[in-house]
Amino acid sequence: MRKIIPVYVRVPVLFALVFMAMEYFIDSGEKPAFIEYPMVSVFLFVFLFTQIAIEIVISAMDKITYAILTEEQKKQLAETEAMGITETAWYKKLKGFFTKSKPIEEEDTIILDHDYDGIKELDNVLPPWWVYLFYITIIFSVIYLVRFHIYGGYTQEEEFQKEMAEAKIAVEEYKKTAKDLVSAETVTLLTESGDLASGKEIFNTNCAACHRADGGGGIGPNLTDAYWILGGGIKNVFTTIMEGGRDGKGMVAWNGTLKPSEIQQVSSYVLSMQGTNPPDAKAAEGEIWQDETEAPTTEEGAENADDKDATEETAADTEEELQVAQN
Ligand code: HEC
Repeated sequence: MRKIIPVYVRVPVLFALVFMAMEYFIDSGEKPAFIEYPMVSVFLFVFLFTQIAIEIVISAMDKITYAILTEEQKKQLAETEAMGITETAWYKKLKGFFTKSKPIEEEDTIILDHDYDGIKELDNVLPPWWVYLFYITIIFSVIYLVRFHIYGGYTQEEEFQKEMAEAKIAVEEYKKTAKDLVSAETVTLLTESGDLASGKEIFNTNCAACHRADGGGGIGPNLTDAYWILGGGIKNVFTTIMEGGRDGKGMVAWNGTLKPSEIQQVSSYVLSMQGTNPPDAKAAEGEIWQDETEAPTTEEGAENADDKDATEETAADTEEELQVAQN
């Protein structure tokens, strides 16, 4: 066997297998195991060292044994080494075990005595590899029967439900980490100072021109009061910034410029300015928004659409101001 796979293949392949097994079985997060845990590197190094040492010792031993062989034995060894693997004794034994086929010389012992125009038939036994496989399936079926039909294991239906539940949890987990999947339905108010600081930066670069840095309002409405044209609360504000205000008012959709996660940050920042009451703030526009604890349902969404019509007049002022500003 050692002769078939040369040492320069054997050592690296075995090492690679052990290396992959370590990476597979050791949970090391993002980084590979041998970087995360130095002990793994030490182990791999010792393993490689031992592997090489064993190879050296074996080859030295081979040389010594060869030196003490008689001429006769040396000749025999040379002959066995010259043989291909299909001629070696262990290969023949293995093949015999799995196939039990008769060698050609002994075929006359199993030949059937009919002869169809010179076509003869041999009465070979079933090949053992096939027979053993068959026995295994029988044993398997008995275990399966007892486990699932007599002692009532889980049904396919239950298995399906369980996997679906697991998948649902996995999807939730994924959504938590994938920030840019936030949508108007899933958006939440961020309160961490890091997020608010990013939100402020985004606001100052993109929004302050129309809403003023303190949110007091200019071309755009006052964002610090409790009155909202397009609806307050994180979900409405997020939607407004994503999709823009009413046509021709000047508030464009920002979903092409900013990522959903950034819009979530800036929405949270906008809402953090509630009640700050900056000097010279623009007069209130729209309606007082009462924050509900529950997420707005589709029905409420429809109501908001009505609100939009109701506030059309106040918005008209905004439009005029915008035109003034553009001129
Ligand atoms: C070109 C000027 C302009 C810029 C820039 C601008 N807005 Fe506006 N914004 C407006 C106008 C005008 C409205 C009123 C829209 C309407 O009446 O439909 C508005 C409305 C809003 C509203 C809804 C207010 C309410 O009362 O319902 C929010 C929230 C808002 N803007 C946030 C932002 C944010 C955040 C940015 C930056 C990413 C931004 N705006 C950039 C002009 C602007």
